[in-house]
Amino acid sequence: TNSHGSFRTAYHFQPTENWQNDPNGPMYYNGKYHFFYQYNPFGATWGNGNLSWGHSVSDDLVNWSALDNAMDPDSSFDINGVWSGSATILPDGTPVFLYTGIDADNNQVQNVAFPKNASDPLLREWVKPSYNPVIPLPDDIVHDNFRDPSTAWRGADGLWRVAVSAKFKTGAGTTLIYKSKDFRSWERNAEPLYESWVAGMVECPDLFPVAEPGAENGLDFASANGAGVRYVLKQSVMETLSDYYVVGRYDDASDNFTPAEDAAGDNDCRTWQRFDYGHVYASKSFYDAGKKRRVLWSWANESDPEPNYIARGWSGVQTVPRKIWLASDGKQLLQWPIEEIESLRKNRVGLLGAEVNAGGMNEIIGVAGAQADVEVVFEIPALEHAENLDTNQLLDPQRLCGEKGASVQGGVGPFGLLVLASSDLQEHTSVFFRVFRHDGKYKVLMCTELRRSTTRADVYKPPYGGFVDIDIEKTRSISLRTLIDHSVVESYGGGGRTVITARAYPEHAQTGGSSHLYMFNNGTGVVKVSKLEAWELKAATVNVAGGGLAMV
Ligand code: FRU
Repeated sequence: TNSHGSFRTAYHFQPTENWQNDPNGPMYYNGKYHFFYQYNPFGATWGNGNLSWGHSVSDDLVNWSALDNAMDPDSSFDINGVWSGSATILPDGTPVFLYTGIDADNNQVQNVAFPKNASDPLLREWVKPSYNPVIPLPDDIVHDNFRDPSTAWRGADGLWRVAVSAKFKTGAGTTLIYKSKDFRSWERNAEPLYESWVAGMVECPDLFPVAEPGAENGLDFASANGAGVRYVLKQSVMETLSDYYVVGRYDDASDNFTPAEDAAGDNDCRTWQRFDYGHVYASKSFYDAGKKRRVLWSWANESDPEPNYIARGWSGVQTVPRKIWLASDGKQLLQWPIEEIESLRKNRVGLLGAEVNAGGMNEIIGVAGAQADVEVVFEIPALEHAENLDTNQLLDPQRLCGEKGASVQGGVGPFGLLVLASSDLQEHTSVFFRVFRHDGKYKVLMCTELRRSTTRADVYKPPYGGFVDIDIEKTRSISLRTLIDHSVVESYGGGGRTVITARAYPEHAQTGGSSHLYMFNNGTGVVKVSKLEAWELKAATVNVAGGGLAMV
């Protein structure tokens, strides 16, 4: 551990100290990755009024060097905060930011910023032209609900478009489209990209094209041609603090987005799918031209009380960057930790053909469990014991995970992993599957349960859950990959079909105890482990205090 205590992560992105929230303006530029984030330089709380854009650079999305803030609240159009926004790479290769400023009247406005010197490989300094704001607050929008410009894209008419979140004074939450030829004067489309009267204010919109079903390469707007291209629209819903996405079609003549399947009547994004069924928010993707993939970042807030993280001196982590692409069924995205994270692996432990008996628990020995990467494939010999599921239970997987936790014996499952477990098992976080029968078909539920994750009483310990869209009758097996990093448990079920990120604060680690890893099965039949591989993960170099810029 280190001066920040045992909850500090070893390979998830964090600033050296203080508060961070949303990922901002991630980009690949001249062979380097840049990451910006909502940052309060003055402390470990959100610190209304103080937000800056923190800035780090990396060669591999794993090891990061901290630079000075890219933007601070120092101009009339952002004097009360430099809030979220995005980067766009112009056709000549120059990056530009669009971001929200909280101006001197506490109105939300959209601003532009350019690199002071585009040939500086580290893009250390950013210039905010004095003609900002480029998009002032419109009359029909609530003054503190107008923000989070997306990456811009160009239509066939040559005009740039940007999506901006807003709330109409009449009440609807919306995503507006603005058009511009020069990033300076912007004109609003009459028709919003998205609007809902029931989902409330939405934030941090992201719209991006995806390659054909099953193809793992990413697309940017410029390379997405033809009517057949599918797009993904993502919204962050303030009320539920969750991100939702849907696959659909986008037409740049009308600037119209249509979800592929009929989502609920009122365009209610809360009925869409989730990137992550756990504790993450305000995600943002970018096209990585280096590796020709689309990469997703998301913020995971703390789950313990503010005095605790003030005492630790930091708050908030980013999830491991994930490659995202369209599944072969064309209906959902698959997500997988970027392959570079595997460079941290050491001390591999492997198992082939093990079994976990009904009621059994097998320890995975040889891997220190506070910083680990576990990949396991469970095989289910018999499905006939599957519990029945009624239609109501189908509607709320999170609640189902709460009712049918790891300790509630089932038919097929619960089976999975116990991670961050103390030697006496008093503390453990469970990540597991449970197979149900519904309407003559099988449904696979994936859960992360935090009830026993810490003996501390003051921590938020909800169950998290989502269904995994696989045909278990056909595959008879399901995979699970879990990345463990002190206070983060990030799990990918069914090859990245369902992802759950949770924060855990095991007390045993605070007092120097080691964390253990187990497989468990609390169903009525045996579960086979056709393959298991586990590694310890080395600590990455993440914004180490006083850390020299080795790459300069
Ligand atoms: C989302 C958000 C954004 C805003 C930023 C402020 O978490 O509320 O809408 O721009 O955080 O820090």
